[in-house]
Amino acid sequence: MESPFKPEILKGKVALLTGGGSGIGFEISSQFGKHGASVAIMGRRKQVLDAAVFSLRALGIQAIGFVGDVRKREDAVRVLQSTVQHFGRLDILVNAAAGNFLASPEDLSPNGFRTVLDIDSVGTYTMCHEALKYLKKGAPGRDPSTGGVILNISATLHYTASWYQIHVSAAKAAVDSITRSLALEWGTDYDIRVNGIAPGPIEGTPGMRKLAPNEMTGKARDAMPLFKLGEKWDIAMAALYLASDAGNYVNGTTLVVDGGLWLSHPRY
Ligand code: HXC
Repeated sequence: MESPFKPEILKGKVALLTGGGSGIGFEISSQFGKHGASVAIMGRRKQVLDAAVFSLRALGIQAIGFVGDVRKREDAVRVLQSTVQHFGRLDILVNAAAGNFLASPEDLSPNGFRTVLDIDSVGTYTMCHEALKYLKKGAPGRDPSTGGVILNISATLHYTASWYQIHVSAAKAAVDSITRSLALEWGTDYDIRVNGIAPGPIEGTPGMRKLAPNEMTGKARDAMPLFKLGEKWDIAMAALYLASDAGNYVNGTTLVVDGGLWLSHPRY
């Protein structure tokens, strides 16, 4: 679908996206690029990154990939440094990397629980912490009058409770809390806006393939408030809104983009 935003709303901006090589992260990367941003993507799998960079460049987007794991602080430091070396500055950090699998609490070891928190929660915090010096007002290469933007991709699982997702629910609850705390402190001190997006079920994503294999058609879809799954495009449009000047007064919020699903009950 065509974007309703003007193609230059992110002109001259530099964005770094963790998990930017696939799924929702890749769609945000390509929409940011189509709206004028230069894009660095970080991920664990070189092949996936290479293919993503190739696709982005084919669209005429300035793109580069850096292999790294958000669980390793040294990777975060290196990828942020390399991004700024390559593009001269950093304006937008998107934390889209996430780990997920279905497991009941009986079967999930403490290490399995910790692994997902390490990726989603600690990984998000680590990237934010290491990005601060590049994003704050007055950082080298940046417009001296404003700070940058952080977007954390979350979920709605933890608003209620979700089967076999105890680890992911805890991890995303922490992500939402990080969003609010950083919005307060870094908004005040450094003019950095920090927001989140909580996607609902989005067609064609690794999350959907894992959480609802083959099921979200027919009956299940008919019970949803807007009678449809979301598209990666829907999340990318929300990201454009929050990352661009359109979202200038939005700070500390997590925008739910789920068609109204999490708050709905089946019709009796
Ligand atoms: C039970 C599991 C498990 C499983 C791993 N573990 N997979 N436990 N069921 N299916 C446990 C292991 O037994 C181990 O604990 C611990 O987790 C670490 O496992 P490793 O395989 O060593 O870890 P690693 O190789 O680092 O892989 C971690 C991973 C990650 C979390 C599995 O590779 C991953 O999730 N990759 C997929 C990424 C993905 O799908 N992203 C999309 C997210 S979608 P023990 O005790 O045995 O040592 C999303 C959407 C959410 O987040 C909301 C949607 C609505």
